[in-house]
Amino acid sequence: MDPRDTAVLLPQPSGDQGGNGSFDCAEESAHYAFSVQLLLTQYAALVPWQTEGVAELGSGDARAIAHVVRAVPGLTVHGTDISAASVERARRTIDDLGVGDRYTVELGDFFAWADSPEGARTSTVIANPPYIPAPDGDILMPELWGGWYGNDLVLRLLKAGFDHLLVALPSYSDPAATLAAAGELGYRVANFLAMGLEFGAYSSEPKVAEHIARLTAEGHGWAGEGSYVVAVALLTRSPEAPRDRSTELLRALQLSV
Ligand SMILES: C[S@@+](CC[C@H](N)C(=O)[O-])C[C@H]1O[C@@H](n2cnc3c(N)ncnc32)[C@H](O)[C@@H]1O
Repeated sequence: MDPRDTAVLLPQPSGDQGGNGSFDCAEESAHYAFSVQLLLTQYAALVPWQTEGVAELGSGDARAIAHVVRAVPGLTVHGTDISAASVERARRTIDDLGVGDRYTVELGDFFAWADSPEGARTSTVIANPPYIPAPDGDILMPELWGGWYGNDLVLRLLKAGFDHLLVALPSYSDPAATLAAAGELGYRVANFLAMGLEFGAYSSEPKVAEHIARLTAEGHGWAGEGSYVVAVALLTRSPEAPRDRSTELLRALQLSV
């Protein structure tokens, strides 16, 4: 399909950021959704989503990707989320949008699913993964903890053996280390969409904001005055990827290369 024939309806904020047990950041989810949609359609010859479907790490309340599934004929998504409140909401969203035949969300750890026979048959993963850097997981929504540098889950994803990852990479979660690991594992950056975001409820939590300030001062990423940049990138191990845009991606994330 032509990427111009698609339209993502942006999720509306619930007005209850951080308090309802599931992730809620309308701008971030919309950017993730829009980017996944554009990258999948634009790179349909490289990424076999039309024949295999895709898996999703961390569906949240599913408002982001349910709209993409509705807009993109032939796309099927198997999502996993570790938060019971999120899965309950996700199932409601999917029912309301009438995409239950092509989007399912199961409760559990994505990496356990990845080790299953179904996981082994899937080569593409989409994710706006937990990426909040903090000294420990005692934060506003513990499921969003990404370890000390914020990139623990994306590093696990890179090592899990999938050929294609469409994944959100924030500027403050040591993206240079993430991309260096990706390169060593044979991934190239086919393309990406980057957007500036304000710190939301999760990044502004004082314990998190202080940690981000420390990490970025030590050179493990970038953040401005209450703002950062997120890029959703297509990382692929396909030899057919026409080029590697890692350097452009790092520059878009405000890192010197
Ligand atoms: C940043 S939110 C993204 C939600 C949604 N994809 C969106 O963009 O609106 C990350 C989600 O990952 C989930 N999560 C965290 N660790 C997980 C794991 N090991 N397996 C599956 N989901 C996980 C969290 O519960 C959370 O809902």
